Formats: sequence, structure tokens, C-alpha cells
Amino acid sequence: MDERLAVVSGGGTGIGAAVARALVADGCSVLVVGRRADVLAAAAERIGAESGRPAAVRAVTADLTDPDQVGRIVEAVGGRPVDVLVNNAGGYLGGETDTLAGVAAHWRANLDANVLTAVLLTEALRPALRRPGGRVILVSSIAAQRGGGGPYSAAKAALHGWAYDLAAQLGPEQITVNVVSPGYVADTEFFGDRMTPEGHARRVAATLVGRAGTPDDIAESVRYLASPAAGYVTGQVLGVNGGSVLGR
Ligand SMILES: NC(=O)c1ccc[n+]([C@@H]2O[C@H](COP(=O)([O-])OP(=O)(O)OC[C@H]3O[C@@H](n4cnc5c(N)ncnc54)[C@H](OP(=O)(O)O)[C@@H]3O)[C@@H](O)[C@H]2O)c1
Repeated sequence: MDERLAVVSGGGTGIGAAVARALVADGCSVLVVGRRADVLAAAAERIGAESGRPAAVRAVTADLTDPDQVGRIVEAVGGRPVDVLVNNAGGYLGGETDTLAGVAAHWRANLDANVLTAVLLTEALRPALRRPGGRVILVSSIAAQRGGGGPYSAAKAALHGWAYDLAAQLGPEQITVNVVSPGYVADTEFFGDRMTPEGHARRVAATLVGRAGTPDDIAESVRYLASPAAGYVTGQVLGVNGGSVLGR
């Protein structure tokens, strides 16, 4: 059988890079997508070298909020069926909220970064998804289930409703669509300079297992949902949060 092909947005750093590494270990070839060419190229080289398959990871630079740039991924796919699409790109964007114009910009930025990135990439690749057997995975956040992030929480929650529709539309073609909702994951670029020792300790204390999550914790759940073994799981939200939020 041909190598399975996976596309991982935000695959140059953090959770996305861990997902790319896991999928390469499972024999996929992977396209990693992000805005920073140097970061992506370094990740692609590192993951390829570690796996012993130097050509297994290819980098495609694109801002996924820009419809004109999303076509680059379709070009890179080059007509092959896409077995796995992991919509992981996103993050919390701060903003000035003293004026209504500021509020609008803050909300638009978070909706663009977390919803539009996933919607545009998925719509662009929808015709290419392998039928039967394709896998679409959306990376949401615990913030969608318990709040705490304002427009970021709302944007991630929007992914859940959209995933249910997508699962219904693609189910008859044996394509599954699921959401992975991470809790606190340290060692990524997500928090930038916003994290403090107190913030870290508070988040760890909120878990039942007494530790921060790692990118690999999230990657392992994505790996399962991406695998042929998960063909009967669709339209689900999987919380990977150390028990910070229970069964929601
Ligand atoms: N870390 C946590 O505690 C946590 C918790 C819950 C959910 N999450 C979610 O997990 C996902 C991965 O986050 P992370 O923690 O691994 O942080 P991260 O290292 O900041 O990863 C975010 C990735 O998305 C890419 N990206 C952002 N905007 C993009 C755009 N417009 N177009 C293309 N790529 C874009 C970034 O690359 P470029 O900047 O080069 O574009 C980066 O590689 C995010 O969706 C985040 O919201 C994280």
C-alpha cells in the first residue's frame, strides 16, 4: 500500500510538531503547514531525521486565514488522496477592548486564527480526502468547555458545532471527523510570555493527575483518531486535560 498522506496545520511547533512526529512514526508522509518558513523547515528536517525517513515531512508555508494562500497546500498535495487532516493551527490572540472597534478586532482575530484556519483548509482539501477512510481532526481547547478565554473560548467552541455538521456530511463516505480538546499543555509557544509560575501551578493543581500536559499527550490521542482503528468514532469531542474538566 502507498504511504498514507497527512496534513498537519501548525505542524512546525508544539502540539502540531508532536502530531507530525507520531504520524510519521506510523508510516505517514506529512505536510506541515504554518506561516514561518524557517520554523517549518527546521521541524521538517528534525522530524524526518529522527524517524530515519528524511523525506517524510515536507513544509508548506501559508497563512491559513488567507483564502489565497490555502491553495498552496492543495498544490503540494498534488492530487494524492489525503488520509489524515489535522487542523491544529490556532492560538489565543490578545487585543485592545476599550473601544467597540477594538472588541471587533479582538474577536475577529481569534475567530480567524482558530475557526477560519480550520474551515478554509478543510474546505480546500475536502475533495481530496480519502474515500473511504479519511480522517479529519480538529484541535479545540478546554477553554471551549469551561470558558476562561473570551473570544478564544467562543472560537474553539465554534469548532465543536461545525465538527458535528462535518461528521454528518462526510460520514456516508466513511470519513470521520472528531475534536481533540487539550487542557493545559506546557512546552509550546501557546502562552508566549504570558505564563507565570503561579499560573502554571494553578493549572497543574486543577488537574486530577497533578501535572501539565505535554505535546505528546495530545499527539497520542490524535494518532488514535487518525488511525484505521478509529473508523467507528466520529462526531466526538475527546478531552485530553488530566481531569481538569470531566466528561463534557
Ligand atoms: N498549549 C496549550 O495549553 C493548549 C491548550 C488547549 C488548546 N491548544 C491549542 O492547540 C493548538 C496548538 O497549540 P500549541 O500549544 O502547540 O501552540 P503553538 O506552538 O503556538 O502552535 C500553534 C501553531 O499554529 C500555527 N499557526 C497559527 N496561526 C496560523 C495561521 N494563521 N496560519 C498557519 N499556521 C498558523 C503556528 O505557526 P506560525 O506562527 O509559524 O504560523 C504554530 O505552529 C492551538 O490550536 C491551540 O489553541 C493549546
